[in-house]
Amino acid sequence: MTLNVGVIGVGMIGQDHIRRLTHVLSGARVAAVTDVDLARARTVADDLPGAVLHDSGQELIADPGVDAVVVTSWGPTHEEYVLGCIAAGKQVFCEKPLATTEAACTRIVDAEVAAGRRLVMVGFMRRYDPQYRAMKQVVTSGEIGLPLLMHAAHRNPSVPPHYTSDMIINDSTVHDIDVARWMFDDEIAAITVLKPRVSSKAAAGFNDPLLVLLEMASGVVVDVEAMVNAGFGYDIRGEVVCEDGTVELSESAGALVKTAGRVSGRVPANWQERFVRAFDTEFQAWIDAVTAGGTTGPSAWDGYAATVSCETALAALHSGERVPAVLRERPDLYKEGAR
Ligand SMILES: NC(=O)c1ccc[n+]([C@@H]2O[C@H](COP(=O)([O-])OP(=O)(O)OC[C@H]3O[C@@H](n4cnc5c(N)ncnc54)[C@H](O)[C@@H]3O)[C@@H](O)[C@H]2O)c1
Repeated sequence: MTLNVGVIGVGMIGQDHIRRLTHVLSGARVAAVTDVDLARARTVADDLPGAVLHDSGQELIADPGVDAVVVTSWGPTHEEYVLGCIAAGKQVFCEKPLATTEAACTRIVDAEVAAGRRLVMVGFMRRYDPQYRAMKQVVTSGEIGLPLLMHAAHRNPSVPPHYTSDMIINDSTVHDIDVARWMFDDEIAAITVLKPRVSSKAAAGFNDPLLVLLEMASGVVVDVEAMVNAGFGYDIRGEVVCEDGTVELSESAGALVKTAGRVSGRVPANWQERFVRAFDTEFQAWIDAVTAGGTTGPSAWDGYAATVSCETALAALHSGERVPAVLRERPDLYKEGAR
């Protein structure tokens, strides 16, 4: 059976997911597309044999030829489309963020709980990265003892002009927030944000880099260095410190070269290069789960918790205080299953 997927928002990552669905993965085809930029959507549709061009996202969701939906429009528009999919009883893969405010995420969680089954997967693809998965396996196995700390770094080479100072938290660090919750199967209890010396490469008004301290409910502390003008490449680091040892992500993206008394290796140029396998694995998992009649992966609860954590981190950044993260009670729908 081929899953007929409709894509809402065919910008940079929407087109990348269309490429993935069309040329890389199996079991799905792109059956419909739309975008507020209709000319862009038409150009994309023209390259997809048999794909229908819709005037609006809601029209695409209502299309009986669309079995499941991918939402890759701008963050503030996600709520409307995810709610539309839940109302239509269609599975939806929503790129992060699930929605940009706690209130909007709460409405989605409430709608999915009322529907009585999981229909939403959120695109936190690091959970599908082979290195992070190997790290989680070691942590979860208990072979190196109880986890105490995690050190993480998220270094972007540079950011585009539309990137704002707050996006260091809610666009970049949000991935580390999700990793922390998933790695330790735990919620974040409080957040503090420190502001080191500002890089001379930072745009005016930016606090870059930041040091974000996540206190997990268990007592594990995660420190995340977030820097968006690292210049030299896209450098993702992680090390979990346990009672009997440590486990870390490996350093080099390619072969390590040793010559003339020096060691050198490749730093990925960007997040597309670093996480290409994670995106492929994530999407194939979604296709397989939806074809089997359900969903998988990061849930609407995970999307809600990540957005609450981002709001908490921004409050901590702007106040200079340690801010408790307060979540609503987790509904039964999210108490079991993949997280
Ligand atoms: N998982 C990741 O690492 C990752 C990476 C990149 C982007 N993203 C997320 O994907 C989403 C899209 O990001 P992007 O970089 O592709 O942005 P983009 O600006 O390149 O593309 C967004 C597209 O959505 C369209 N759009 C905007 N409002 C719309 C609406 N109401 N209805 C239909 N279409 C609409 C725009 O015209 C544009 O074509 C964002 O939420 C972003 O955070 C996630």
